[in-house]
Amino acid sequence: MHRRVINAFLGLGVVSTLGGFAGAALAYLWPGASDASGSNLLVGREGPLSAAALGEDEGVVARSNLGKVLVIRRGERLIALQATCTHLGCTVAWNSSTQQVECPCHGARYDLLGQVLRGPAREPLARLRVTAGAGGGIRVGPLLRG
Ligand code: FES
Repeated sequence: MHRRVINAFLGLGVVSTLGGFAGAALAYLWPGASDASGSNLLVGREGPLSAAALGEDEGVVARSNLGKVLVIRRGERLIALQATCTHLGCTVAWNSSTQQVECPCHGARYDLLGQVLRGPAREPLARLRVTAGAGGGIRVGPLLRG
């Protein structure tokens, strides 16, 4: 009986240790983890996206807990838009030549603030609050209006 109790405690310890490791690993690997303020880290192809990695007038689609986000750097300013076209859901991209956000599927065009310039899309792209942290990591937060 005494041996069973000890084995049960040992088993419980092993399970809780493995659970802790698994939770830490998932938190590390999960893209776009949120911090306490609800802001979400943007993750590009090579890990967390930093403002320094973006060239002036460059736009990159990255992932976050809020879905795909198009972040555009204009000088020192960052602009973040939901990267899903409001027509049928293709992923949009920034075209620095035309200074427009473009959808490759059916040709919708949006301006820097996500407003529709050309259909078939009718609804604007949602704008997101965007900040660059002290370590340079770009975070996006709740939707902005207008
Ligand atoms: S999905 Fe973007 S224009 Fe149709």
